[in-house]
Amino acid sequence: MSNYYSKISGWGMYVPERVLTNHDLAQMVDTSDEWIVTRTGIRERRIAAEGQATVDMSLRATQQALERAGLQADDLDLIILATSTPDYLCPPASSVLQDRLGASRAGAMTLVAGCTGFLYGLITAAQFVQTGAYRHVLVVGGETLSYAMDWTDRNTCVLFGDGAGAVIVSRSDQPGGLQTMMLGSDGSGWDALLLPGIGSITPLTPEVLENKGHKLKMNGRAVFKFATRVMVEAVTQVVTEAGLTMNDIDLLIPHQANERIIDLAIRRLGFDREKVMVNLDRYGNTSAASVPLALCEALDQGRLRPGDRVVMVAFGAGLTYAACLWEWQPEEVSEEPILVTNWPVPESLRETAQQVRTAAWRMQVQARAKASDAAMAIMLPLYTFRKGVKKRLGK
Ligand code: COA
Repeated sequence: MSNYYSKISGWGMYVPERVLTNHDLAQMVDTSDEWIVTRTGIRERRIAAEGQATVDMSLRATQQALERAGLQADDLDLIILATSTPDYLCPPASSVLQDRLGASRAGAMTLVAGCTGFLYGLITAAQFVQTGAYRHVLVVGGETLSYAMDWTDRNTCVLFGDGAGAVIVSRSDQPGGLQTMMLGSDGSGWDALLLPGIGSITPLTPEVLENKGHKLKMNGRAVFKFATRVMVEAVTQVVTEAGLTMNDIDLLIPHQANERIIDLAIRRLGFDREKVMVNLDRYGNTSAASVPLALCEALDQGRLRPGDRVVMVAFGAGLTYAACLWEWQPEEVSEEPILVTNWPVPESLRETAQQVRTAAWRMQVQARAKASDAAMAIMLPLYTFRKGVKKRLGK
């Protein structure tokens, strides 16, 4: 069992000022607002200004998150920056961010897991704080996808946008935070989303540049199929493992790639559309920034309250996928026992009250784990049987 709990103590977001609408794109490639809206749900996206890069946007989002948490950069123990569009291939973008922040005490790493990067980072951060190793971990998803776009390719350039979202994952004594999680990857789909000309396999030559090897290539249909399948599997897994049903979930924050992917997945899950956060109409797919941008806006809109259960799910290049069930932290409970009298309370009594409270939490967690084991014992054979039948039928 974990020694501590995790909580998100601060959050922040930044999107560039420049708005690129579907109508603007229709002037650039053979497309239309109608096609983009009906096939994706996207209406506009943000584009970084000249010279504005991933670390610039990540810094703005982080400053907001720190302020909200009431923390200084020096309080950070670790920085995890998830991005597929770092300022440089070397050094890691996380170190550049650390320098700009002045977070001199922190370790720093850049995490590359495509659009799933933020969730990989969030789940990793929770492990560090729950074991007690660290107190405050910064997790950022930041992307400058406009730089990787081929602005003559209508298959890709209508989908993506720029931005950054950040959270501070902090150690907590109060139950809540990360409940269940899964990290997935299907490497056999590595070439479905690809920047073929940047990396050690291809020396950068004038030919590579001419053939736009430094621009994103995508097999849209393959990604679509993969995304709907893994979203259903991943969400089912984290909800079932928690011993819960879809009705117990207050909010679903899916990766904001395509509204049709989201709609198909929630229909298969039997999930209430009202409880799904969608903001891709205004930002498009911002890859690793997508889930934290949606989380920040959900919080700003008051869609997430203390004690709520939120499921976050993402998929992306790799092909990677991940999901987690997060219990939004309850309001801080005072460490001081509630007094019905003004008389001083002996220290031993305070300790006993604290021990009773801790024991109650542990019993609650153990009960939930048992319920989860029971649910898994029923669901897993059913799931494996269904998969086997489907395989035999060649579906
Ligand atoms: N405007 C107009 N027509 C377009 C277009 C655009 N922007 N983009 C593609 N088309 C055309 C195609 O060329 C194709 O024409 P064709 O039949 O003459 O070849 C036609 O529209 C249908 O293409 P199809 O791929 O079947 O469309 P779709 O309904 O599958 O939608 C995507 C395409 C890319 C929107 C969709 O497949 C998708 O969202 N995939 C997942 C992508 C994703 O999420 N990537 C990021 C993962 S993190």
